Parts: sequence; structure tokens; C-alpha cells
Amino acid sequence: MKNASITTHSRQETLALASRFAKALQGGEIIFLRGPIGAGKTVFVKGVAAALGLKSSPVSASFSLMKEYKNKNVKLFHVDLFRLSEGEVFNLGFEEMLEDEKSIILAEWPDPIAHMLPADRLEMEFVLKQADEREIKLAALGRVSEKLLEELCRASKM
Ligand SMILES: Nc1ncnc2c1ncn2[C@@H]1O[C@H](COP(=O)(O)OP(=O)(O)OP(=O)(O)O)[C@@H](O)[C@H]1O
Ligand SMILES: [Mg+2]
Repeated sequence: MKNASITTHSRQETLALASRFAKALQGGEIIFLRGPIGAGKTVFVKGVAAALGLKSSPVSASFSLMKEYKNKNVKLFHVDLFRLSEGEVFNLGFEEMLEDEKSIILAEWPDPIAHMLPADRLEMEFVLKQADEREIKLAALGRVSEKLLEELCRASKM
């Protein structure tokens, strides 16, 4: 499976989806989160971290652009590069996040670092519908992300 679409109707439903999603993660997945301001990307990422029982810890240089969540088993990076360009994120330490191939990376506004990351990633596009409705379009761009997408769909009983 390479594509899917899931619609949520509230923040809570997106959190529930994030929780199912978290269960399908094994480490090493890369997820790009796209969509306009207020679409629910951060809600989803926080839901994933919470479902994994992770606490945020500050990351040095690029503190506000990258948050690291970890415990002894899992390491998750939440990146948000809103309005930044490739030049502006150069040398900010994003390479470090790739040193451990078991890191889970969730990136909002990911374009400035896309070239540094493996091509195999899950693209999630959050589309604003009416009121609290959000359509989340998923596209898997490789073997690892396809597996993740399949697990997620199984968990969602689609
Ligand atoms: N179905 C839904 N899923 C997620 N969030 C929802 C939903 N319905 C309403 N919301 C609300 O929409 C807002 C989403 O905010 P969030 O910070 O996640 O957006 P974002 O996509 O990360 O935006 P930005 O690009 O500015 O970072 C929250 O206030 C949330 O409560
Ligand atoms: Mg956000």
C-alpha cells in the first residue's frame, strides 16, 4: 500500500490516530508533516510522543527548531522549520539527528532539510476541511514507510 486518507473530526480524534500510529513505529521512520498553519501537525506529533511515553528534552544549538523526545528505548525528533530556507538551517546540527538510524523523525515544514534525509519517508498532508474536520492524506515513499502505513491502516481497521 502506498496511499491512504484518514479523516478526523476533532483534536481528540487526531490524538487517537497519533496513538495508533505510535504503536506502529519501530524506530528509523521519517515522517514529513505538511499542510497550512493550524492544520493539526503539532497536535499529531505531540500525540505520538505522549503515546510513546516520551518527555521533551532541549537540544542545543537549534533548540526552537528541533525538539528531542526520548527515553531509554526510543528517540524521537520533532522538527519545525516554518519560514526557514535551506541556507538558514545549514550547520544547525540536523546531521546529528541522523547519526542514530533508529531515530524517529517527524518534521513540519520539512523542505529545508529534505535533501539531508533518506528518500524513504511517510508524507502526511493535513487538509483543513470544515470546522474541526481534517483530512490526512498519507503517501509512503519507500519500503520502511510502506510498512508503517500498512500497520497504521491495519490498526485503524480501514
Ligand atoms: N481534527 C483536528 N485535528 C487536529 N487539531 C484540530 C482538529 N480540529 C481542531 N483542531 C485544532 O486545530 C489546531 C491545530 O494546531 P497545530 O498547532 O497542531 O497546527 P499545525 O499544523 O502544527 O500548525 P503550524 O504550521 O502553525 O505549526 C489546534 O488548536 C487544535 O485544537
Ligand atoms: Mg505546528
